Amino acid sequence: MSLPEISFSVRRQQAAEQSIAYLMKQGLENRDVISLAAGFVDEVTLPVSLVRESIADILTDDAVGHGVLQYGTTAGFGPLRDNLLTHLARLENGSTSDLNVTSNEIVVTSGSQQLLQHLSDALFDPGDICLVAAPTYFVFLGTLNGVGARTIAVDTDENGMRMDALEAELARLEEAGDLNRVKMIYLVSSFENPSGVTLADDRRKQVVEIAKRWSKQHRILILEDAAYRELRYEGEDGPSIWSYDETRQHVILAQTFSKSFSPGIRVAYGVLPRDLVSAIHDVKGNFDFGSPNLNQRIVSHALQSGKYEQHVAGLQSSYRVKRDAMLAAADEFFSDIPGTSWLRPNGGLYVWMTLPDEVETGFESPLFQHASKKEKVMYVPGEIAYPKGSPLRKRTQMRLSFGVETPEQIHEGMRRLSEAVRHVMS
Ligand SMILES: Cc1ncc(COP(=O)(O)O)c(C=O)c1O
Repeated sequence: MSLPEISFSVRRQQAAEQSIAYLMKQGLENRDVISLAAGFVDEVTLPVSLVRESIADILTDDAVGHGVLQYGTTAGFGPLRDNLLTHLARLENGSTSDLNVTSNEIVVTSGSQQLLQHLSDALFDPGDICLVAAPTYFVFLGTLNGVGARTIAVDTDENGMRMDALEAELARLEEAGDLNRVKMIYLVSSFENPSGVTLADDRRKQVVEIAKRWSKQHRILILEDAAYRELRYEGEDGPSIWSYDETRQHVILAQTFSKSFSPGIRVAYGVLPRDLVSAIHDVKGNFDFGSPNLNQRIVSHALQSGKYEQHVAGLQSSYRVKRDAMLAAADEFFSDIPGTSWLRPNGGLYVWMTLPDEVETGFESPLFQHASKKEKVMYVPGEIAYPKGSPLRKRTQMRLSFGVETPEQIHEGMRRLSEAVRHVMS
């Protein structure tokens, strides 16, 4: 007898397979491939001994250990949330009192991806709108699709989302009677995934003004995703978008320890406008009633001991070398391919490259197939970082990651990729 089919929810149909799952599968099936695709952090820099020592310290005392291995609270481990205020004050070059928030506005999540999901659940009904940069973090596009939200891409340049384009889009939506559906503007403020672009300081200020001015029917929130903020290899870190909102009620700041410490630990946090706090606690309460207690203690321990800061300084030096290796290889192998250009990121994990108009980069393209099967090198096709159907979507771009491979492999990977491009163009 044949098995009756499972009757899936609409939500399940909206949660289509993520391109990232396809890429990860490709990577696992083709172990001999040089991956300029994976957004993973460099394994050799992960803080193994630091975490080992932290766990030993944390579990030295039985009574403390009992608490650590118990459930925690939905909002997160209290002392960690206090440490996070100090940490944030350092990132903002100020003191905790300048922050003008308390640890009550901080929620600890299992990775910032979880915060993005909880925010999507709490804020978007099907058809509600999120404005995003073109291109943007493609996993979040999937999250938004999963709740039935509409994503509209706004044009960008080498300084991030263009504020004139944002205003024009809001005006267009108002004209169409859709302003009441706009819930959020999503921005990866530093070293964006995938483009490596950082939102310019003047635009950080402007976007707060714009969100406030266009909050005519309800509050339009800004979600500042600062996942890569601490991976800076050049220049000074400026203030966040969040810091420009003196009211603290328009911007959600999402930060994670995945890139600067360990993605496996899954500890991240959000600083929330007051009115969002209980909504996110309720959503998270239904989901997991709190992120893993032990992992939160590990991060708290690393922050308190000052070892976290030392670790980040080491990471910056090691990624700087890899970024430079990729940029040097781009110069060496791509500068004589006409119509090719790339951006020079000051931090993060990615170089964004645009190929000549005739060279499409999608999964089915001759370039992707030739690069992955014959040259044994993988990249992320740029088109997945635009909402489907967006007029701004380009098909000739690539995200090249320098996170995982060694400088030598990066050099070799770039050589192979340039061979694949030349092959497709010949
Ligand atoms: C821009 C951006 N935001 C959020 C995340 C989610 O990271 P995590 O859930 O590990 O904190 C990532 C991961 O690559 C990212 O690139």
